[in-house]
Amino acid sequence: MKALYNEDRWLAERIGKTAYRINVGSEVDASAMADLPDSLPFSYGKVALSDSSMVNAFVLCGFKFINGQAFLAKDFSEFEDFSSGAVREARSEDREQVWDIAFNAYSFDRFHVDEKLRFAADDINASWAVNYFTGNRGTDMLVWDKDGVVGGFILLIVTDGVFSIDLIAVDNRFKRQGIARELVACAESKYADCTRFTVVTQLENSPALQLYCKLGYDIVEIDGIFHRHG
Ligand SMILES: CC(C)(COP(=O)(O)OP(=O)(O)OC[C@H]1O[C@@H](n2cnc3c(N)ncnc32)[C@H](O)[C@@H]1OP(=O)(O)O)[C@@H](O)C(=O)NCCC(=O)NCCS
Repeated sequence: MKALYNEDRWLAERIGKTAYRINVGSEVDASAMADLPDSLPFSYGKVALSDSSMVNAFVLCGFKFINGQAFLAKDFSEFEDFSSGAVREARSEDREQVWDIAFNAYSFDRFHVDEKLRFAADDINASWAVNYFTGNRGTDMLVWDKDGVVGGFILLIVTDGVFSIDLIAVDNRFKRQGIARELVACAESKYADCTRFTVVTQLENSPALQLYCKLGYDIVEIDGIFHRHG
């Protein structure tokens, strides 16, 4: 039987307290939540908002709703032969610029929304992005580069024919110039043989939702993110 929760050491290091992820799934149902100890310093979980009994269980255990997450997908890419002179594969020397973009870009993620974790949010997002350079996150990263200035990046996880956008961000100075569209189009073109294209973003993140819907992605599931501080 699957454990009810697992330690998330990566997150714990960044927020300065032990963190646990609740393993919501077929083997961890609402009744299993009754066994959750009150003593956990910080715990979090993702619940399909259509699963009202699990949402009830989280609320009863003292979790707070943080935000909604939209899972979007499409079955093919319309960018089979797309190319751009500005988009290239990330190199190790891009690490610092990618860090800066990610550090400053995000505001809708669960760490910014949770006032008790906001102090660590920029660092968490930047660390997540640059984990790519140490081989700890993602299978590929493309950057938009103009004369050595990186204006945006896209981090991908591509496995078994499934293309997922793990993170994307554009430097505030370069927004609304079509850079995100170019990054997604180049990435999809590179992996055009995939049979599923997916991405997750916050329901409150209108710029990202608009971007993905305009690129042919449909919302297929909505989850809720819940946090509990002990
Ligand atoms: C979302 C984001 C990547 C878009 O980057 P961008 O380069 O400015 O986007 P583009 O110029 O390519 O825009 C493409 C389309 O996205 C939509 N869009 C982008 N920004 C938007 C905004 N602020 N409001 C509404 N729609 C927006 C529009 O439909 C736009 O097409 P249009 O300009 O023809 O109307 C950027 O706003 C960003 O870095 N946000 C912070 C990081 C983030 O939240 N990433 C997504 C979650 S991982």
